[in-house]
Amino acid sequence: MAMITFRINRFNPDDERRGHYMQEYQLDVEKGMTLLDALNEIKWKQDGTLTFRRSCRSGICGSCAMTINGVNNLACETQVLEFGGSTITVEPMRGYPVVKDLVVSLDPLIRGLLAVKPYLISHSPPPSDQERLQSPEEREKIDGLYECILCGSCTSSCPSFWADKEYIGPHAALKAYRFVADSRDEGSAEHLEALDDRHGLWRCHTIFNCVEACPKDLNPTKAISELKKELVRRRLG
Ligand code: F3S
Repeated sequence: MAMITFRINRFNPDDERRGHYMQEYQLDVEKGMTLLDALNEIKWKQDGTLTFRRSCRSGICGSCAMTINGVNNLACETQVLEFGGSTITVEPMRGYPVVKDLVVSLDPLIRGLLAVKPYLISHSPPPSDQERLQSPEEREKIDGLYECILCGSCTSSCPSFWADKEYIGPHAALKAYRFVADSRDEGSAEHLEALDDRHGLWRCHTIFNCVEACPKDLNPTKAISELKKELVRRRLG
């Protein structure tokens, strides 16, 4: 058990005069407690006005992504005592408009996602007696791509996104490549269309922050590089 101080960003859109400020809460933390557990304890027992997003508490829904001691991560997968210090700073993810306290608007994330048509596109009629099949080797090609939970950590950590809020973002590129690499998909041109744009893949300067930020250990930079090669191949005919 250890007494930890949580410095948490507060922001109430109804109190513009006060703007953003940090508020401190102390909590006895025991081994095994996640940051989400700690935030729940604070909200339920100390300050019911503290606002944050959460849902599954199992690293699946991506709702509780936030900036913890300067690094994006999921609160439900972050062990408080593993930081080792006595103070933890918790802020909303950078780059997105803050709605309240730790809650950000994910509208930019959703815009980028929808632009790449994140679903299987097929122009052939489905087989009448079975589903669309893949070989094990074809299926393996989407490993490391389909696992994205759309938490927004990658795009929030990207300096290109900070500089250009219309940049489509590494999350959208990873999602597009998940379908371009899928042997059953026949819509590569449609997935790629929004990426071949001044706010598309060419905004990526291979900074790699997105790889470090991904709580699922995925590699959006590799997906971007594969998609850039595909765009060049198509331009060269
Ligand atoms: Fe941004 Fe990742 Fe590219 S951090 S610049 S999308 S490699």
